Amino acid sequence: MCENHRQDRLDKPLHTELPEGHTLSRRDFMKVGIGALGALAVLELGGVSLMFLQSRSQEGEFGDTITAGPVDNFPAGSVTEFTDGRFFLLRAPDGGFLALHNRCPHLGCTVTWEPHLDRFLCPCHASTFDFYGNFDNPPVPRPLDAFSVRIQDGVVLVDTFELRRRENFAPEQLTYA
Ligand code: FES
Repeated sequence: MCENHRQDRLDKPLHTELPEGHTLSRRDFMKVGIGALGALAVLELGGVSLMFLQSRSQEGEFGDTITAGPVDNFPAGSVTEFTDGRFFLLRAPDGGFLALHNRCPHLGCTVTWEPHLDRFLCPCHASTFDFYGNFDNPPVPRPLDAFSVRIQDGVVLVDTFELRRRENFAPEQLTYA
C-alpha cells in the first residue's frame, strides 16, 4: 500500500453514529483506543498492587497482632485454637499464657489438640507434643514454635508476625497478666 493511500485511509471518516457535524477519523479512533487501553493497564496495575498489599497481612489476621480476648476467657489448663491465626493459646495451670504455632516443625502439617491424650498430634507422621509443645517422638526435630504473647488492659494479644524456635519449654516463655 502506498503512503498516500494509507494516509487517506487513516483520515477517512468512519461510519459511526456521532452528533451532527462530528466525524471520527481512523486516526482519531486509534488514538482513543490506545488511550483506553493505557487507562485499562493503569487500572489493572493498581488492582494488582492493592491485592498484593492486602495479601501481606491485614490487621487482626495471621501475620499481624491478633486480639485473642480477655484474660478471663481462658481457664487455667486450657488450650484454645485460633485457626485463622494459626496458633493455639495455652493457659498453663499457674495462669501463664503461651501461643504455639499450629504447624509441625517437621514438614509443616497442621497439628491438632487431642484432649483425651493431653497431646498435640501431627497427622502426617504421628509425632506428638505435650501441653507445652515439647515433642515426644521423631521424626519431628524440635518443639512447636511459639509466638510472643502480650497482655494489655486485661486482653491477650498474640504477635503472629514473628515465630520463635525453642529448644524446649521453659517457664520464662509464659506470659502473665
Ligand atoms: S510433618 Fe509432622 S511429623 Fe512429619
